[in-house]
Amino acid sequence: MKILAINGNPRKDGNTAKLLKEITKDHVDVDLDSFDLNDLRIRDCQACYFCKKNDACAIKDDMQRLYRKLREADAMVLGSPVYFGVENANTRAFIDRLYALLAFGDGPGKYVPRLKGDKLAISFVCCGAGKGKEVYANIKDRQFAMWANLGFKEVRTYVIAGASPQGNVLELVDAQNMVRECQELLDR
Ligand SMILES: Cc1cc2nc3c(=O)[nH]c(=O)nc-3n(C[C@H](O)[C@H](O)[C@H](O)COP(=O)(O)O)c2cc1C
Repeated sequence: MKILAINGNPRKDGNTAKLLKEITKDHVDVDLDSFDLNDLRIRDCQACYFCKKNDACAIKDDMQRLYRKLREADAMVLGSPVYFGVENANTRAFIDRLYALLAFGDGPGKYVPRLKGDKLAISFVCCGAGKGKEVYANIKDRQFAMWANLGFKEVRTYVIAGASPQGNVLELVDAQNMVRECQELLDR
């Protein structure tokens, strides 16, 4: 199994990074590629629509590596912190650039995914708010629909609430449950 792990958080030892490491560690027969978005140069989508006439993005930056990795991967795991109610800017830029993985479909607002195969998408956001699961349920639902629309055949999305700047996330029951669930999925 090829796993692509993407950390959207600039904090390499923060809650998001800790969760990603836990989810992706110690798998047998796994080819793991891990990226920190903060180390990459990924420009914002320029809405040039080159990708709708060509199966490619016109912007030649580090996202080109991630497109290749995404095409090859059996599973992708993306973690992001919540900043002001949404994914942080690194993660937003990455997500917007995934537009290149969609071809125009039959009619307005209709798209055809270009990703092939039985891929698994796991994504989670980490937030400080104690009630984050309720407050940011919209992120979980939106990300779920997004991965499905992009052609991922199996999708899990999560909100992990109550993460402190000191990095307590592995002590949180919801986080432990998520890690266990994801490890099982990646071990199949
Ligand atoms: C710029 C900034 C904005 C934030 N905005 C929110 C927010 O809107 N809601 C929230 O619950 N937590 C917010 N937080 C807290 C982070 O989401 C939380 O600390 C998260 O666990 C960060 O993960 P990390 O440890 O991987 O950095 C914010 C933190 C920063 C730095």
